[in-house]
Amino acid sequence: MLLRMNRDSFVCTCAILIVFIAEIGLFSVSSAQARSAQAVPRQATFQSKCAMCHGPDGAGSEVGKSMKVPDLRSPEVQKLPDAQLAQVISDGKGGMPPFKSSLSEDQIHALVTYIRSLRQKK
Ligand code: HEC
Repeated sequence: MLLRMNRDSFVCTCAILIVFIAEIGLFSVSSAQARSAQAVPRQATFQSKCAMCHGPDGAGSEVGKSMKVPDLRSPEVQKLPDAQLAQVISDGKGGMPPFKSSLSEDQIHALVTYIRSLRQKK
C-alpha cells in the first residue's frame, strides 16, 4: 500500500516535471521570437509611423510631397545633428506631428539611426 502510494506520487511528480519542462521550452521559444522581432524595430517603427509622409525609403510619399516633406536622404537633412533630428521627431515641425507621446526615447533614437542609414543606401 505504502509502495503503491509512492509510485503514484512518483508518477504525479513526473507529470509536473514534464509540464514544467515543456513550459520552459515554450517560454524560450517565445522569448526567441521576441528577440528576432526586435531585430528590425526601427524600420518597423518608421514604416508604421513615418512612411505615410516620408515614404518607405525616406524620399517622401505622395501625401508627404504635397506637404513639402524634405527627402530624408538629402544632404540638407543628413547634415543636421542627431540631437536636432531627435528633437524634430519628438516635438514635430511645420506639418509634421510631434511623436514624443507615442514613441519612447529609445525608439526616437533608433529612428535617428535609421535616417542615418538611409543616406548610406543611396
Ligand atoms: C503627417 C506627415 C508626417 C509624418 C507622419 C512624419 N513626418 Fe517628418 N516631416 C513632415 C513634414 C511636413 C516635414 C517638414 C517640416 C518643415 O520643415 O517644416 C517633416 C520633416 C522631417 C524631418 C526633417 C527635419 C528638418 O529639420 O529638416 C525629419 C528628420 C523627419 N521629418 C522625420 C520623421 C520621422 C522619423 C517620422 C516618424 C516618427 C516622421 N517624420 C513622421 C511630415 C511628417
